[in-house]
Amino acid sequence: MIDASRLTVLVTGATSGYGKATAERFHAAGARVVVTGRRKDRLDAMRAQLGGRVLPLCFDVADRGAVAAALTALPTDFAAIDVLVNNAGGALGLEPAHQANLDDWDAMVDVNIKGLTYVTRAVLPGMVERNRGHIVNLGSVAGSYPYPGGNVYGATKAFVAQFSLNLRADLHGTAVRVTSIEPGFSETEFSIVRFKGDVERAKNLYAGTEPLRPADIAESIFWCATLPAHVNINRLEVMPTVQAFAPFPIKRG
Ligand SMILES: NC(=O)c1ccc[n+]([C@@H]2O[C@H](COP(=O)([O-])OP(=O)(O)OC[C@H]3O[C@@H](n4cnc5c(N)ncnc54)[C@H](OP(=O)(O)O)[C@@H]3O)[C@@H](O)[C@H]2O)c1
Repeated sequence: MIDASRLTVLVTGATSGYGKATAERFHAAGARVVVTGRRKDRLDAMRAQLGGRVLPLCFDVADRGAVAAALTALPTDFAAIDVLVNNAGGALGLEPAHQANLDDWDAMVDVNIKGLTYVTRAVLPGMVERNRGHIVNLGSVAGSYPYPGGNVYGATKAFVAQFSLNLRADLHGTAVRVTSIEPGFSETEFSIVRFKGDVERAKNLYAGTEPLRPADIAESIFWCATLPAHVNINRLEVMPTVQAFAPFPIKRG
């Protein structure tokens, strides 16, 4: 197994949900963690709570210039990123395609696709140069299985899965690993964001169920990243036991 206390880990979207739990998991194991997101107060709170070995960096992953500026000027202690967790992202809206808001579609493409590629492109050359590293991308079951209202969100996650496999193809011959983590139904701030701040609607979605928790996904990411260096988990699909598959709907009459 890889010794996590020797790792420098960059987690995008570390202010909440999976990202926060993942940063905390690696930090607890002794890693140095770079935590990013747009909510500076939360990043500063993490730094205050966890103390040293934490570098907060506030930027929007969809802002290409901001990504480059933040990641080319990393302090020496945090400059050699071993594990990049491309987690920042989310869904906006659940309307059918013919009623969806185009601004929501733009925003999901900008963050889930473009933002993820900007961060990857900034970090990857160093990994290849050092011949060491691991890129962990947050896809979703929505990238493999369609559901009503999943339209562009699911399509952005299909991109993440395919981009991850294509990275593996490009990186063949190097020691750099790539993993796509594809979770199902999970309770984070995801649904509050998707429903534009409607906390009650988000709460109702999880009522009476046992969804995945951020710590479940953090543990999955930690496991993938600490497996021996010759092992690459390409894709890891994780669902809570309460979730399964629906039959194909047939319209009659
Ligand atoms: N929860 C689920 O059911 C589920 C299932 C499968 C996959 N996922 C995926 O898992 C990832 C994490 O989601 P989560 O469930 O943990 O949701 P979450 O609690 O809403 O966390 C999302 C994180 O992404 C950050 N973020 C969003 N837009 C950003 C931007 N433009 N620039 C920088 N950071 C940004 C947010 O930070 P700031 O707001 O501070 O910027 C936040 O830290 C997402 O990619 C999501 O699509 C979630």
